[in-house]
Amino acid sequence: MTMANFWQSLPKPILALAPMAGVTDSAFRQMCKHGGADVLYTEFVSTDAIVYESKKTFEMLKFSPDEQPVVCQVFGKNPEYYYKSAKVLADHGFAGVDINFGCPAYKVVKHGGGVTLMRKPELVREIVQATCEGSPIPVSIKIRASICKEGCAVDDPEGQVTAMDLIEVLKGLPIATVMIHGRSFERPFDGAPNVGMITQVKKAFKGIVLANGGVYTPEDAKKLLDETGADGVGIARGTWGRPWLFQEIKDYLASGTYTPHTWQDIVPAILQHARYAFSAKGDHGLVELRKHMAWYVKGFPGASALRGQLVRSTSYEEIESILARA
Ligand SMILES: Cc1cc2nc3c(=O)[nH]c(=O)nc-3n(C[C@H](O)[C@H](O)[C@H](O)COP(=O)(O)O)c2cc1C
Repeated sequence: MTMANFWQSLPKPILALAPMAGVTDSAFRQMCKHGGADVLYTEFVSTDAIVYESKKTFEMLKFSPDEQPVVCQVFGKNPEYYYKSAKVLADHGFAGVDINFGCPAYKVVKHGGGVTLMRKPELVREIVQATCEGSPIPVSIKIRASICKEGCAVDDPEGQVTAMDLIEVLKGLPIATVMIHGRSFERPFDGAPNVGMITQVKKAFKGIVLANGGVYTPEDAKKLLDETGADGVGIARGTWGRPWLFQEIKDYLASGTYTPHTWQDIVPAILQHARYAFSAKGDHGLVELRKHMAWYVKGFPGASALRGQLVRSTSYEEIESILARA
């Protein structure tokens, strides 16, 4: 039932904004799109909330056509809800639907969703199959390198469910893309990604593989691509305050060099981001904008005083006048 697979027409290496709850809202996605990203993932959204038509969730599903291709990431544990949600997301105009099998956030795992689903491979298959059957748009998945089985030691090689176990279980299903975060559930955000596991997934999976974990600079992106043979990279924290990282990576891959951004670029970027945020969500846009503003100014002279003023600001005009004085 899957429509034209937009993933196949993206230039390689594909540079994706990885999903981040509380971060990758429409305003930030637009910044990253202008900053060179090829595909943008939303924050995660509950399939239960989609099926029950939660007003708050439907607000989160709004996006600007300029962002396309946008992939909506969902979590949950009821295959039937995935089936129904996929159709709703296609009707909203999303280019793709992504299933979260990698997130360790309490909000998700407390209901047995996200990364803990990796411990139930049969349910993973049921969920993906239901999504593919219900989805008129391409289906992708996001997984982690591994998770310890219940009651097993972290360092017990026999006690892990790995990304490769999932790829095996999902064989034959029409999954367009796998983003693999090369870290385990037990070390969720620290340390170098497991490039060996990403490389194995790239060899075993016939669709597109995006390597994720630890990309903060163009050099990191090139290294991860070279080491894994992946079709692209997913970038999460490296984009904080630097939505132009994608273009820097493209420049670096094309020419071996890139021009780092300076304070002169930061001020217009903050103002542009603020315009997107207010236009998308009105005053509610400030909630996520505040942390983005703090990230933009990080590392520049006088950053902490400026950050203090910016995070207390309550309007676009106030942000503009704070930056004019900076
Ligand atoms: C604040 C935050 C929120 C995140 N939210 C999600 C999410 O909603 N769905 C998901 O699959 N991963 C989520 N992640 C994980 C990232 O997508 C990514 O896999 C992880 O941060 C590793 O990439 P990085 O080293 O580039 O940051 C989140 C990470 C962070 C830091």
